[in-house]
Amino acid sequence: MEGSHGETGKALRGKAKQLYATDDPEILWVEYKNTATAGDGEKKEDFTGKGRLNNLITTIIFDLLKKRGIDSHLVKRVNATGQLVRKVNMFPLEIVLRNVAAGHFCSRLGVEEGLPLKEPVLEYFLKNDDLHDPFVNDDDLVALGVCTREDLAEIAPLARKINEALIEIFAKIDVKLVDFKIEMGRASDGTLLLADEITPDSCRLWDQRDHSGKVEHLDKDLFRRGLGSIIPAYEEIEERLAELAKSEGIEVAE
Ligand code: TMP
Ligand code: ASP
Repeated sequence: MEGSHGETGKALRGKAKQLYATDDPEILWVEYKNTATAGDGEKKEDFTGKGRLNNLITTIIFDLLKKRGIDSHLVKRVNATGQLVRKVNMFPLEIVLRNVAAGHFCSRLGVEEGLPLKEPVLEYFLKNDDLHDPFVNDDDLVALGVCTREDLAEIAPLARKINEALIEIFAKIDVKLVDFKIEMGRASDGTLLLADEITPDSCRLWDQRDHSGKVEHLDKDLFRRGLGSIIPAYEEIEERLAELAKSEGIEVAE
């Protein structure tokens, strides 16, 4: 079904996306915005084209994951900045996977950015703006009733499987997947689904094409660290992913 989000919608506003109801209670409309934020919204800027690029990138990545047996909430991309997705009951969790030390892992543990990790690290952050999304462990989540042991026994292996698939996908386009954040929820039939987005906003992506040993960021660290515009980097990711998807027979929007 096609959503007419403007009329039916009670909007749920996020920093980079906006969610609207449609006339189907099982389906939501996601609108990708041009806004980039960092540091809990302290730093904020609009980048023309970001919403379009992130909509394309998430769609391609979810399609590539689907081909690898990993389902998401995505129903379909409907226009430049809009997507229809299945309504899922979200866990209020930021699920972070790390393959290389960067960002908060380095500041928390005093290790140098770029240190390869002997195995992937899975971290949970509770989504709570007032507390700035605190780091939590399995016991915290179960004790607070955020999720059950059984939920975590499904969430963790799915997160690790997504990491393996994304490492392979990004390696194919000469990009190192340093770390990323995902979110999950349960559909009305109880199925655990990957939801939200996977974009250069939510991943650290280091270019492996020749930069004479210097890290070339193809992600939101360009904005977080004031290194320049994010748009050329997001375009580069979109173009490489689109080429990969086409080579796998996936239809990609122009
Ligand atoms: P971190 O090193 O700042 O904890 O970030 C780890 C990864 O998670 C990185 O790829 C960026 C992503 N991330 C988000 O998508 N949203 C957030 O709010 C934060 C803090 C990180
Ligand atoms: N969650 C942060 C914010 O919106 C962004 C980030 O660092 O990924 O401010």
